[in-house]
Amino acid sequence: VAQVAAAPTISAAGAHDATDGHRAHGHLWMHFGDLASYDAGGVPVIVRGEGAHVYDREGRKYFDGLSALYCVNVGYGRQRIADAISEQISQLSYFPIWQAVNPTTEALAERIASLAPGDLNRVFLTSGGSESVESAWKLVRQYHAVRGNATKTGIISRTDAYHGTSMGALSITGIKSLQEPFLPLVPGVRNAQTVDAYHADEDPRAHALACADDVLRIIERDGAENIGAVIVEPVQNSGGCLVADPVYFARLREICDQHDLLLVSDETICSWGRLGDWFGCTVFGYQPDIITTAKGLTSAYIPMGAMIASERIAQTLVDAGQRFSHGYTFGGHPVAAAAALENIAILEEEELLEAARTRGEVFRDALEELRAIPIVGDVRGRALFQAIEMVADQASRTALTEGQLATLYGRLPKELFERGLICRAMNRGGPAIQFAPPLVSSVDDLRRAAAILGEALTEASRDVL
Ligand SMILES: Cc1ncc(COP(=O)(O)O)c(C=O)c1O
Repeated sequence: VAQVAAAPTISAAGAHDATDGHRAHGHLWMHFGDLASYDAGGVPVIVRGEGAHVYDREGRKYFDGLSALYCVNVGYGRQRIADAISEQISQLSYFPIWQAVNPTTEALAERIASLAPGDLNRVFLTSGGSESVESAWKLVRQYHAVRGNATKTGIISRTDAYHGTSMGALSITGIKSLQEPFLPLVPGVRNAQTVDAYHADEDPRAHALACADDVLRIIERDGAENIGAVIVEPVQNSGGCLVADPVYFARLREICDQHDLLLVSDETICSWGRLGDWFGCTVFGYQPDIITTAKGLTSAYIPMGAMIASERIAQTLVDAGQRFSHGYTFGGHPVAAAAALENIAILEEEELLEAARTRGEVFRDALEELRAIPIVGDVRGRALFQAIEMVADQASRTALTEGQLATLYGRLPKELFERGLICRAMNRGGPAIQFAPPLVSSVDDLRRAAAILGEALTEASRDVL
């Protein structure tokens, strides 16, 4: 069970046996992978993608209910993006944005700023989510230092939240098991209680306010002079699509303003249509000072992330005559920028934000029907970001025992994969099956995915409970 908790992937290892002997054995270091079991057992080899589906080396087709890793929002195999990439490479394959700029990267920054809410006008491009979070924490520190508050170095994140793996981002991450092998962490991070309405005994609004008050309690305990920011996801991924009542974010905004803290919205997953809008914060009606993003920005055709900061923060540095002495060789890569621009054009032209909302509703309705299965405790999420939490008893919300979890996770991920469904089985906070399908998934695909899950959970319910 612990391994499942740590594994961020489809957890389908074991679907292929050792005899398939693919070339990478003994050489490729899989990310978050267990090298021993990789070498011993083999893993699927995915060779092709089209629309909302991927195909393995044997030609088997899978519905990618996770968009790879919450990334491929416009689906696989987009010739338009390939053409944009190719054209950019012919024109200018790369030039750093350290002392010069290029038109494609400039156009992307302008496009992102035009879509981002409020005065979030300054776009710092990175290569992924961890770099974006890392950049945000550094900017928070410099912003406060420039204004004479050099001790406001700390940051409040939430329990169980995942914010990345570089040392700063890992320190912000609220998952102890991921941190343990790499101690000591960067000091200054406090974890506030995450919103988990399903397990709370009060109503969702009261629970959300109590969780916001936990942030306030930490600020009052440790001193606002030591804390520079609060970082939250619009819908917390880790724990299985934890959704907060909007009052939570409104209250966080107030608390941040009262105590001179910046509010960082980590939208590595929750932007670019995933929740039915360009950015997740607008779905819940709050205005952050910084958005961090990645994944769906390019639909993962090429790696790219961004930290989008308010004009006010940028201007504070400019007025103080300071530069942000931070950057990455590949930040703002023109080829990635070309892919991102084309990806954004597709999201807009094909009205995929709207599709995420409407198809999200269809999918949610289909998942809601699974509540009839005894092991299904909760169904939650927004648009095309949904999860099911599993329990031993629906009425009392009693958790599955370690033994039941071991049985469940020993079979469920593999069974779903063998039935052609990619999704994510996680056990952080509570055991959940999670979906983030491409925004181009058809209604049939989504209903079929729910049906496959239903069959597997019905069998699991019978055998495990
Ligand atoms: C909310 C959030 N922040 C940060 C990250 C880290 O992103 P990356 O893996 O691109 O570094 C992730 C990755 O899943 C994430 O979900």
